Amino acid sequence: MQNSRFLPGVLIAAVLGLGLSAIAPVLADPATRPLRPLTNDIGERVQACTLCHGAQGRATTQGYFPRLAGKPSGYLFNQLQSFRDGRRQHALMAGLLRNMSDDYLREIAGYFAALDVPYPAPGPSGLNAEQQARAERLILQGDPARKVPACTACHGPSMAGREPAVPGLLGLPRDYLVGQLGAWRGGLRRAHAPDCMSDVAKALSTDDIAIVANWLAAKPAGAHPEPPSATPLPVQCGGLAP
Ligand code: HEC
Ligand code: HEC
Repeated sequence: MQNSRFLPGVLIAAVLGLGLSAIAPVLADPATRPLRPLTNDIGERVQACTLCHGAQGRATTQGYFPRLAGKPSGYLFNQLQSFRDGRRQHALMAGLLRNMSDDYLREIAGYFAALDVPYPAPGPSGLNAEQQARAERLILQGDPARKVPACTACHGPSMAGREPAVPGLLGLPRDYLVGQLGAWRGGLRRAHAPDCMSDVAKALSTDDIAIVANWLAAKPAGAHPEPPSATPLPVQCGGLAP
């Protein structure tokens, strides 16, 4: 069922070419003039993305698909590159992005980063008091014994993310958070080296991941990413150059 709903999106994406799809030449004028996208409006060209990521890339609290709107554009660009180049795994997205240049990925990232749309209200965390306290300690203070810095030391005190390329942690579905931290732990998601998030995720237990995800998914989001900070990150992370 779900797949049949997504299929048209893939076709739309392929047909609109999203720049450089292999199908586009067939649909373009058969004469020899250079291939052009069928539309120049970036909002129209990314319609296929919104089938999964929600209107304007705003997602909802339902389901797995992450929000795109308002995330730091360097972060979105790194992710699009990672799906295209195999550091992150999603066959459909990789297929859509396969023929896109870095410049085009930057344009798409800039489009979604600039969208300023409201977040849905979060649900309850479902954590008991002990779990709540444990999650809060990890997120706000880290765990020096396991060399885990506070999540807020990198993701910003309000967890809204940090320009140019550290994402926010609020407004993401619980299942998505569990999935991503688990993927890093298992080596399925990778970021540019040095991959600091891989070290963080590998130091967490599956139980830690569950309570942290529940805590984060129950917090209201809304603030914009913070500007680049003068305070260096506690550990070096790759892919943060503007
Ligand atoms: C078939 C559904 C589908 C389509 C179509 C789709 N995506 Fe995705 N996208 C996903 C899923 C699922 C994930 C999470 C994958 C994972 O588990 O890592 C994702 C993740 C992402 C992320 C990472 C978000 C984050 O917070 O790390 C970005 C950026 C993204 N997609 C952009 C796009 C763009 C741009 C398009 C259109 C060219 C697109 N997606 C089309 C399903 C889709
Ligand atoms: C040393 C800095 C640092 C620390 C500490 C850190 N993160 Fe991250 N985190 C990053 C960076 C950088 C990225 C972006 C990686 C990439 O480009 O894929 C990231 C990405 C993420 C993502 C992916 C978001 C998305 O939209 O897909 C999640 C989830 C996450 N971090 C959770 C956490 C949690 C939970 C903690 C604390 C337990 C934490 N991080 C601590 C630097 C950090």
